[in-house]
Amino acid sequence: MLKGKGFNTRLLHAAADRDPFTGAVSTPIYQVSTFHQDPDKPGDFDYSRSGNPTRKALEDLIAQLEGGDRGFAFASGMAATSSVLMLFKPGDHLVVSEDLYGGTFRALTTVFDRWGLEISFVDSSDPEAVEKAINPSTKALFIETPSNPLLKISDLRELVKIAKRHNLITIVDNTFLTPYLCRPLELGVDIVIHSATKFLNGHSDVLAGLVVAKDPELAEKIGFLQNALGGVLGPQDSWLLIRGLKTLGIRLDRQSTNALTMANWLQTQSWVEKVYYPGLETHPGRKVLSEIATGYGAVVSFKVKETEILDKILRNLTLPAVAVSLGAVESILTHPITMSHAAMAPAQRDKLGISYNLLRLSVGLEETNDLIEDFLKAIN
Ligand SMILES: Cc1ncc(COP(=O)(O)O)c(C=O)c1O
Repeated sequence: MLKGKGFNTRLLHAAADRDPFTGAVSTPIYQVSTFHQDPDKPGDFDYSRSGNPTRKALEDLIAQLEGGDRGFAFASGMAATSSVLMLFKPGDHLVVSEDLYGGTFRALTTVFDRWGLEISFVDSSDPEAVEKAINPSTKALFIETPSNPLLKISDLRELVKIAKRHNLITIVDNTFLTPYLCRPLELGVDIVIHSATKFLNGHSDVLAGLVVAKDPELAEKIGFLQNALGGVLGPQDSWLLIRGLKTLGIRLDRQSTNALTMANWLQTQSWVEKVYYPGLETHPGRKVLSEIATGYGAVVSFKVKETEILDKILRNLTLPAVAVSLGAVESILTHPITMSHAAMAPAQRDKLGISYNLLRLSVGLEETNDLIEDFLKAIN
């Protein structure tokens, strides 16, 4: 019924939008752990770890939006990422974007390496560097783009070509762009991961992770891991996420416009050393991103010239929450070195340029005039 319909229409109607029993226009919350099993009429559900109707509505929705075979909902983005990493076995080698979420870096370098996964971190905005890092044990590319927090752009089309040449699985963390702006599976990627805590839910009130597999064979394996490891999303949070998703398109349109305004304004400020936003004409990844996505997202990073200014911003801002996280209706300012990337080894942070004077602003739905005024007041 929704074939050929636009993205915003699918956001509203691709999850169960009419309950078959009551006509309710919102997916009911099946707050239940187990299901009566009639030996003569086996049902679709038996135990909520293996499957729950509210969670399934969300999983079907994200599969539709990303254009994959099946979706899977997890208790957090990290539960999603670590379940996907369990596809591999000790001795397997992965090539991973070097400038990625600190928690993913931590899981790879302190948990999965102990368990025998070999990892090479590379600048995935440089396809040659990615191909050079591949060895006979390499099984997958794990890419985060735009990278976090420096917003480098990886050309997924080139990376997919490399992966196919070497028979590798391509995994993309699509948290920053969401399927509204970029659909990696349509570019040949095999698995998409989200911290749905961010733009997909959008309201700073749910922690969740989503995974979509492009083909049935991988989907089967991920479904097995989801059930075997059990890091599933509960029915209440699944429902909240379905509700948040309904406005993803209009939120991101407005937040991206606001982000461009803020990036342009930051560039004019004498106390700002450098602005990182892929929508800026000067950003080296702008052209590639414009070819693989329909927008530049709502995250802007910037470096300030003096620590004193940084302290004033962190202490005196009143509108953006100074917090870990991003992608919400309200603006969120993060100090990566002490927050989102505190878990990254200092040597790695130094190598990447994640310095003390770097800030990451997830731009929300406030009026940008008010945000600008708030920054000016904070530093003065
Ligand atoms: C890009 C990215 N991936 C994964 C995660 C982990 O998600 P969660 O915090 O929902 O576990 C985050 C969290 O900030 C993130 O920014």
